[in-house]
Amino acid sequence: MKAISLKPGTTALQLTSRDEPSIAAPDEVKLQVLRVGICGTDREEAAGGRAMAPAGRQDLIIGHEMFGKVVETGKDVKSVKAGDFAVFTVRRGCGKCLPCQMDRPDMCRTGQFMERGIWGLDGYQTEYVTDRVKYLVKVPAEIEKAGVLLEPLSVAEKAIEEAVRIQFARLPDAYSTPEWLYGKKCLVAGLGPIGLLAALALRLRGAEVYGLDIVAPETARPQWIEKIGGHYINGRNANTASGKTGGGAGQMDMVFEAAGIASLDFSLLDFLAHDGIYVLTGIPGGGRPLQIPGAEMMRRLVLYNQAVAGSVNAAHGHFRMAANDLLQSAAMWGDHAEKLITNRYKAEAFNDVFTRHSPDEIKAVIEWA
Ligand code: BGC
Repeated sequence: MKAISLKPGTTALQLTSRDEPSIAAPDEVKLQVLRVGICGTDREEAAGGRAMAPAGRQDLIIGHEMFGKVVETGKDVKSVKAGDFAVFTVRRGCGKCLPCQMDRPDMCRTGQFMERGIWGLDGYQTEYVTDRVKYLVKVPAEIEKAGVLLEPLSVAEKAIEEAVRIQFARLPDAYSTPEWLYGKKCLVAGLGPIGLLAALALRLRGAEVYGLDIVAPETARPQWIEKIGGHYINGRNANTASGKTGGGAGQMDMVFEAAGIASLDFSLLDFLAHDGIYVLTGIPGGGRPLQIPGAEMMRRLVLYNQAVAGSVNAAHGHFRMAANDLLQSAAMWGDHAEKLITNRYKAEAFNDVFTRHSPDEIKAVIEWA
């Protein structure tokens, strides 16, 4: 079967041939890969950045945002059958720390986890994949077309859930409403797929959503966020240094960072209200050293009771939350979620996909079947 693999640490990406995997244990499931999304992490890998090949191999099959169809199940598998749509999660735990033993490898404490398509395990940019059913998330047929967005949405779900839990743990009035986010002001910074999907999840929970980016308001991303009732703030006009948001939006109860640009990330603290929570999901690449007004920032964090949290990866439960949200999104806004998939390629075009990024592209996917 065909697969896209990479020699980690290099830019040597290739369309290669691998043996088709078969079910090797009674709790395994085999999926036919239908499509696989491409994100900043894939592009970082393809540029010679963070990636690790499986033990004993020189190359790694890349790809972690998968969507597939069950073709075969081991004899102990009862929860899915051939023909069902499903995805496999990304991270596999170290088996040593408590979070990993509790099936929360997204919170691994040793750092000795592996990630399919990224770190030590082959990924999903190929025709067939197998794994244990405990890593499988069933996808309802109604959201087949948006199913490839499950993984990036799961990352947003985890970060939002963490932020809300932190606020519940510390705010005296958190219990005044069953849905803390309802009516809360949330700024989403960076309107790539994760930011837009975070905006979607926040809107579904009744939050007042402001999306910040630096593109022209009439382009696809601002338009997409406005369609779900969000507001666009053009970062080129916003004056963050004054502590007031451009567009007169006021201070935010939550800031969701999805830009991965260190200089911007620090300035986003200016948007945060008293008692606010700032959650970061972007992973900045190496860059030049940055000058930041450290004392002023620390002063405000303390005097305004602000909380800052970083969030990476997602647990099985966050994938299920993502599937529920895509179902709800379909009920509210029809095919709006799948409109995030702007570019579709065949595997043979791999070189263009991983190294280029057209300005009007939101999510690019490789169609395998
Ligand atoms: C993936 C996560 C992964 C992270 C770090 C992200 O692109 O969506 O699943 O944990 O990269 O490798």
